[in-house]
Amino acid sequence: MLQSRAEVTILAIESSCDETSASICSDGKILSNIIATQKVHEQYGGVIPELASRAHMQNIVPVVDAAVKKANCRLADINAIAFTQSPGLIGSLLVGSQFAKSLALALDVPVIPVHHMQAHVLANLIEEPAPSFPFLCLTVSGGHTQIVVCNAPDDMQVMGETIDDAAGEAFDKSAKLLGLPYPGGPLIDKYAKEGNPLRFRFPEPQIAGLDFSFSGLKTAILYFLKNAGQSMVFKEAFTATENEQAAFIQANMNDICASVQHRIITILLNKLNKAVSKTGITGICLAGGVSANSGLRNAFKKLGEEKGWQTYIPSFEYCTDNAAMIAITAYHKYLSGSYSADLAVSASAKSGW
Ligand code: KG4
Ligand code: ZN
Repeated sequence: MLQSRAEVTILAIESSCDETSASICSDGKILSNIIATQKVHEQYGGVIPELASRAHMQNIVPVVDAAVKKANCRLADINAIAFTQSPGLIGSLLVGSQFAKSLALALDVPVIPVHHMQAHVLANLIEEPAPSFPFLCLTVSGGHTQIVVCNAPDDMQVMGETIDDAAGEAFDKSAKLLGLPYPGGPLIDKYAKEGNPLRFRFPEPQIAGLDFSFSGLKTAILYFLKNAGQSMVFKEAFTATENEQAAFIQANMNDICASVQHRIITILLNKLNKAVSKTGITGICLAGGVSANSGLRNAFKKLGEEKGWQTYIPSFEYCTDNAAMIAITAYHKYLSGSYSADLAVSASAKSGW
């Protein structure tokens, strides 16, 4: 089923984690991208799946309504409804997918299921200049860390990914150890701006190939803090009392954050550099919520200039979870006809492509 390029209006819904989002995309242009962020999780230090599903239930109708109104369109103008099928929290995904399927049935239009991680990559196609194919993408979010080679909108392969924590988790868990509220990534970014990134040398994991590991870094930070900066290795008896640890953190917050951030960035960019050497591809994109990190953005652009890469980073609203990336992915699927519009299609928590 190959569709003409003109007059294609898609409503897209994203609900994989703790953001309820809806977007209208017309002929490949994003007309609206409404995002409702759930604040209810902050007090628990992480996303509570049950509460996320309930908040999606409350948000979905007003968010879709706002997206349609902002785009200045009517439900009758919509030619297809896209939704995030996987991966994510199953209760959250079910709210978005069931809503999308019900509305599609009512409007008699097809549904287009979209893979969340592929959509993060294709967020780079929303704005100009867009990368030409093939390109590499480093996708860094709270749940995933991947290097992907993208040959065409519907032809991507994962070259490397994390074997344990995601980069966003490394930021958030480090922040938690420093007593910062969830999600701590943006706060580490803030404090790091005033700190010395070379003051504390956190270890770089030795993982072969293009895969990542961040769990050792978290453990090193844990021991480092328990020893009030004296050591990064486990000791039978920790040298510092809780008060001494708190005083050490308070006195050195900026330098600790800068050093942690520096290590996460070097882990990411060293692997990305390896992927470029391996493939010879020099169009390089960033994607995912962690690409909001100012240290990563600057280091990525600087490395790109040194190496002669063409680098791309989506605007912030298209980096964190959003429905515009689902819409642009669905637009390309709609044009090529590469989707199953079967209403029996169901959400899945699994990551597989
Ligand atoms: O892509 P995203 O919005 O949601 C997931 O799919 O996970 O990514 C959220 C992650 C969180 O771990 C958050 O702490 C991190 O992105 N993040 C940041 C920054 N802004 C968001 N990490 C470091 N520095 C930031 N400025
Ligand atoms: Zn995401």
